[in-house]
Amino acid sequence: MTETERQAALEGIAGEVAACTGCRLHAGRTRAVPGEGSASSEVVFVGEGPGEQEDRQGRPFVGASGQLLGDLIGSLGWGRPDVFITNVVKCRPPGNRDPEPDEIAACAPYLRRQLEALDPSVVVTVGKHSLNAFRPGERIGRVHGTTTPADPATGAGNALVFSMYHPAFALYQGSNRKTLFEDMTGLPGALVAARARRGPGDATRVAPAASVPTDALAGAPVTLPAAVAPVTPLASAGVIDRVPSPAPQAPEPGDQLTLF
Ligand code: URA
Ligand code: SF4
Repeated sequence: MTETERQAALEGIAGEVAACTGCRLHAGRTRAVPGEGSASSEVVFVGEGPGEQEDRQGRPFVGASGQLLGDLIGSLGWGRPDVFITNVVKCRPPGNRDPEPDEIAACAPYLRRQLEALDPSVVVTVGKHSLNAFRPGERIGRVHGTTTPADPATGAGNALVFSMYHPAFALYQGSNRKTLFEDMTGLPGALVAARARRGPGDATRVAPAASVPTDALAGAPVTLPAAVAPVTPLASAGVIDRVPSPAPQAPEPGDQLTLF
């Protein structure tokens, strides 16, 4: 899929979501929240569902949890526009209650289709409902900060799933902040591993420019595995237009990795 086709697919899904009456959550919503971000990103964050602010603005993670999620993304030298952010359910559960299983099931095709369009390298599950959608039966206390291959049935068949606590976990108890930031340092490594799994034929995955500070990698500079081909901007070849402006330097194997 080209960048333009990805964008069009995501916009089409967003239009369907805005008009959806597929479960009872449609009745209480102010605005549906389909998700937002870069259609060319390799990294997709999947939260639980919109809260009050999100419902008001029609955008994901714009309240207090969203502020912290933005800080977590920023700690890697990335920005929100570098990634795609969405939720398991696209409409706000009343009073921020947990989404019900039948609501999650009704909404699942939208998430699956978004992931099919995005074809991410890494899906980041944010919180327990998202974890449950991608790693059923797992507990967040056991798997936070770890990765596992995604089930192709999720729509993200070429991705690794990286799991994190929900930012609300730190808002309720400040001492959990450290865990969230520590877990986040594992995400660039997950992306490197995901690229290696996808193989050298997948050099089209160019994402926005920003470097990962070495300390975000817990002092261990990530070197590009030899198996991963240097990322080659393919826009000039007319293959894909995923090159940000200015175009990033293509890393050489052995270079410290510049993610995005
Ligand atoms: N919490 C979520 O899980 N998703 C949002 O979009 C906002 C808060
Ligand atoms: Fe439709 Fe999902 Fe909203 Fe339910 S939560 S009404 S399935 S978009």
